[in-house]
Amino acid sequence: MSPVHNLSAWGSILCLVASAWAFDQFDETSYTAENLVKRDIVIVGGGASGTYAAIGLHDNGTSFVLVERNGRLGGQTETYKDPSSGTTVDYGVQAYHNDSISRDFFSRLDVPIAAFTFGPPSTPTYVDFTSGTLLPSFVPGSLGTDYITQLDKYPYLDDGFLLPNPVPQDLLLPWGQYIEKYSLQDSAWATTVGRPAPPGPLLELPAIYVFNSFNPVEVSEGEGRDNAIVSASNDNSAIYVNALAELEADILLNSTVIAGDRSNGVKLVVATPTGNKLIVAKQLVLGIHPVLDNMNPFGLDAREQSILSKLNGYPYYAGLVSNTGLSDATLYQNVGADTEYNVPNLPCFSFFKPTFVQGQFLYWYSALQPTTQAQVESAATATINKLHMIAGTNVTAVPTFDAFANHLPFHLHVSTQDITDGFYSDMYSLQGYHNTWYIGALFVIGSSQLWNNTANMLPQIIAAAS
Ligand SMILES: Cc1cc2nc3c(=O)[nH]c(=O)nc-3n(C[C@H](O)[C@H](O)[C@H](O)COP(=O)(O)OP(=O)(O)OC[C@H]3O[C@@H](n4cnc5c(N)ncnc54)[C@H](O)[C@@H]3O)c2cc1C
Ligand SMILES: *[C@@H]1O[C@H](CO)[C@@H](O)[C@H](O)[C@H]1NC(C)=O
Ligand SMILES: *[C@@H]1O[C@H](CO)[C@@H](O)[C@H](O)[C@H]1NC(C)=O
Ligand SMILES: *[C@@H]1O[C@H](CO)[C@@H](O)[C@H](O)[C@H]1NC(C)=O
Ligand SMILES: *[C@@H]1O[C@H](CO)[C@@H](O)[C@H](O)[C@H]1NC(C)=O
Ligand SMILES: *[C@@H]1O[C@H](CO)[C@@H](O)[C@H](O)[C@H]1NC(C)=O
Repeated sequence: MSPVHNLSAWGSILCLVASAWAFDQFDETSYTAENLVKRDIVIVGGGASGTYAAIGLHDNGTSFVLVERNGRLGGQTETYKDPSSGTTVDYGVQAYHNDSISRDFFSRLDVPIAAFTFGPPSTPTYVDFTSGTLLPSFVPGSLGTDYITQLDKYPYLDDGFLLPNPVPQDLLLPWGQYIEKYSLQDSAWATTVGRPAPPGPLLELPAIYVFNSFNPVEVSEGEGRDNAIVSASNDNSAIYVNALAELEADILLNSTVIAGDRSNGVKLVVATPTGNKLIVAKQLVLGIHPVLDNMNPFGLDAREQSILSKLNGYPYYAGLVSNTGLSDATLYQNVGADTEYNVPNLPCFSFFKPTFVQGQFLYWYSALQPTTQAQVESAATATINKLHMIAGTNVTAVPTFDAFANHLPFHLHVSTQDITDGFYSDMYSLQGYHNTWYIGALFVIGSSQLWNNTANMLPQIIAAAS
């Protein structure tokens, strides 16, 4: 035998070994009893939507297992606990819409609610964080009926993207142009910087994404204290802690899906802290952001690959910083001094805002490119130093960082061309395809709307699993 021949013989043996292994990983008999998990439904992702689905299935008596990458439930709901005082600070999800869906979920999980206050009282100071200029006479615009009149034109965006065909051209206009076309200058600030956690280049976003996320529910949350609720102990993670305690036996934490076969029911190979498990279920419920990075292990076919590859999210970060030397009674708000509608250029911090922990500030940071924790924190230190120059506060203080959250991919979106080409009807057509259901933030963003949409979908999912 020539060496070349030898090599190819080895190659075939390797191929055989590889294909035998690929076959084996979905073979139930290759797993010990404790590593084989058989349920009606597998949920992947234990944030707002996945946890809501788990409680719903539990209460329905439908068996499930939930796979979560982190060591906790709650996803973008993140809560810091001050080690010395025990005070809790929500630095991700702040508030929930005061509707029956939210109240019932808090009540189901035994968490008392209260009206929302965004941290302790503080007086806003408007500063251009880039140039370090104080803007003493800046007055932020408030939301007017001019915006509501436009919003009311598109009720089909309130709960998702059930779009008419063709999609109205106005909805594809960059938001800055929409503001100009419909003279929304008075509401410009409130629809951009002034709304909850807005990511991305706010004046360039297609109008469709502004109306979908800054929808009647979100507008209502911003209107008055009775319209937005929080956990009464300022610990929005409490619902997720209680859900975990109740459902623990059916939740795999610190676990990720490494391979999937959804051709006949659902089989997922999951890496867990105690080794690989095979999950065998009838239906798969996805409470994750279905971007390709997350979806590749699920064994996508060409149709799924082509649709999901169009989705992108924005980089968005949150953190808590102490020992800043800044004034505890001041909300430092970033304003573009000479940008269009005073919207700051990216990347930028939205604000530094005092929390219920003395001396601690919350910040949110929006970027166009993925940014590391070290980069965000060094930008925070540089910005805080600029604020000292203006405010005359204690510049010798060295900031210390208490918490950090990476929210990439936030606010999933596709290009305007893809919207025109029917992305959203294609995406809806994937519901149930290959026994797979999409419940995470994609059609709506806010927690109460995700919960409502999940509640609306569960009967269909349960029926498909029976
Ligand atoms: C800073 C900030 C503030 C916000 N404020 C509010 C607010 O006040 N009110 C409001 O209603 N909404 C708010 N939101 C929106 C909020 O993100 C949504 O309401 C909600 O948390 C999204 O829920 P979800 O279940 O879709 O995703 P997430 O909460 O992100 O949950 C996804 C879960 O899936 C897990 N996961 C991801 N990928 C994988 C994988 N490959 N394998 C396994 N697990 C995976 C994650 O670890 C996470 O636990 C805010 C968002 C941000 C970023
Ligand atoms: C998950 O991982 C974290 C961090 O490594 C660890 O502290 C925690 O105990 C783990 N939880 C489980 C259930 O494995
Ligand atoms: C929430 O809405 C209910 C019903 O409208 C109302 O009774 C309550 O005062 C509101 N606020 C809070 C904090 O529950
Ligand atoms: C300024 O901050 C430093 C470091 O935190 C501290 O030691 C000092 O006492 C502060 N000075 C004043 C005037 O507050
Ligand atoms: C829940 O969704 C249904 C169907 O889209 C809608 O009619 C209803 O108003 C929603 N309820 C809440 C509380 O948002
Ligand atoms: C479970 O959900 C299905 C589908 O909605 C419903 O028909 C059934 O009555 C529910 N069962 C219980 C015990 O709630």
